[in-house]
Amino acid sequence: MPGKPMHGQPLPPYFRIDPDTALAELGTPTDTQGFAVIAEACARGRSDLASRGLREDGARRLRPFSTWEITRYLIPVAPAHFRRVLRANPDLPQGRSETEGGAKWFTLDEVLRLRAHFGAEGSKSKPYLPYRPEGLPAKMVAVANFKGGVGKTSTVAHLAMSAALDGYKVLVLDLDSQGSMTSIFGGRVADEWQSVYPLIARHYAEHLEAENTHRASRGETALPLDDTLTEALGISAGDLVQSTHWPNIDLIGAQLNLYWAEFQIPVWRMAARGWKLWDALTEVLERDGLLDAYDLVFIDTPPALGYLTINGLAAADILLVPMGASFLEFDSTGRFFDMLHTTFASIEEGENTAARALGRDETAFQWDAVRTIVTRYDGAQQGELAALMQAYLGPVMSPHRQDFTALIGQAGEQVQGIYEADYRDFNRETYARGRETFDETYAAFKKLLMGIWRREELEARDSRDAQAAQ
Ligand SMILES: Nc1ncnc2c1ncn2[C@@H]1O[C@H](COP(=O)(O)OP(=O)(O)OP(=O)(O)O)[C@@H](O)[C@H]1O
Ligand SMILES: [Mg+2]
Repeated sequence: MPGKPMHGQPLPPYFRIDPDTALAELGTPTDTQGFAVIAEACARGRSDLASRGLREDGARRLRPFSTWEITRYLIPVAPAHFRRVLRANPDLPQGRSETEGGAKWFTLDEVLRLRAHFGAEGSKSKPYLPYRPEGLPAKMVAVANFKGGVGKTSTVAHLAMSAALDGYKVLVLDLDSQGSMTSIFGGRVADEWQSVYPLIARHYAEHLEAENTHRASRGETALPLDDTLTEALGISAGDLVQSTHWPNIDLIGAQLNLYWAEFQIPVWRMAARGWKLWDALTEVLERDGLLDAYDLVFIDTPPALGYLTINGLAAADILLVPMGASFLEFDSTGRFFDMLHTTFASIEEGENTAARALGRDETAFQWDAVRTIVTRYDGAQQGELAALMQAYLGPVMSPHRQDFTALIGQAGEQVQGIYEADYRDFNRETYARGRETFDETYAAFKKLLMGIWRREELEARDSRDAQAAQ
């Protein structure tokens, strides 16, 4: 009988439910309008929460950095030397103290100026300025996995911030209509026209225009460009870039309407089979000069392998795939790679049948590096599984495992992740551990980046030498 203890043990909760009580608590059925009511309640709650984390003028502000932090993490000089250089150069930012004689604090802008000074004046053997070979374009880095909640956005946000602290100029592209990355960087996106959408539309419109030139020469009628496409032709990538509360991180944001692209892109593609939609992002960013203006472009993608993700993946030089060290995540990540293979192989095949017939160059996608990254790692519980995953994946799995850090989940609307947190607000040990694991994630990434840039730098030099020798 329900409710009666068995062998003196209380019954588990699912045996103790009375149908009439259940009915009394149920409430009325929900109709379509019910969703609107729920959405409205969420919107009100959201703006309440957001207003608590934001300054009165609505802008997010980055915390200052102390002398200790700067000399420990950002500019590799001894604190005494740092102070000496500041005293000797009164034009340099001198920082502010919160208390009489207390530690000096600097904005990130000031840190960047100080770093430039050390880079120009300091010892050449010290890595004050981050490595980027001259004349090579920015590297594009996509973070993707069709499994949700595996740490894609956290990983991109932390990588973008650590690269910015390291002195790189960073552009972040949010391809996820959930807009998490956009809210981390305080972006404002009114509709899809302020996201990457018009860039993809423009790429398509330019394809149609080129196509129409051919058609005209053959005396065929032109393909029509509707208002959307005509408007997109007037938009350049720079128009969509927003600055953020980080002086050297800019953003092209996203919001819910970007999801529309998933419906529109296949329609365009059906209308013009020759449109290489996967080239859209790379070509537009390149043509509009963004790959020269930035050092790194980080792309956050939605948990799906839709057209936007394909575009982001095709644009990427480096692909990072975060996953947890759990059976389910390992399993679904394996299937994700399988989907990547099928998707890109079918694009190549579709293109190359025609290309071979016409004697044109074949399409072959290539990535400088592909790595899986273990995220939210709990060494006490997951060591064995992670070692097994490592054994199967070998060098594809980044050797560093990103620890589960309570601080990441706790961060509120105002502070996003470890690099925005003021270390004084936390237990030193929690801070140090959290920081260390993301510093290691960045170090593993930076090693890939430097290796890739170096390879290209040497190739460029070899081909210059070969030309000079002719
Ligand atoms: N190293 C970490 N330690 C603790 N929590 C983490 C860590 N990395 C991510 N998280 C938490 O896990 C959750 C999911 O992370 P995140 O949003 O980055 O995943 P995602 O893959 O981008 O999700 P989606 O697929 O919805 O875009 C978040 O609540 C985040 O705070
Ligand atoms: Mg995400």
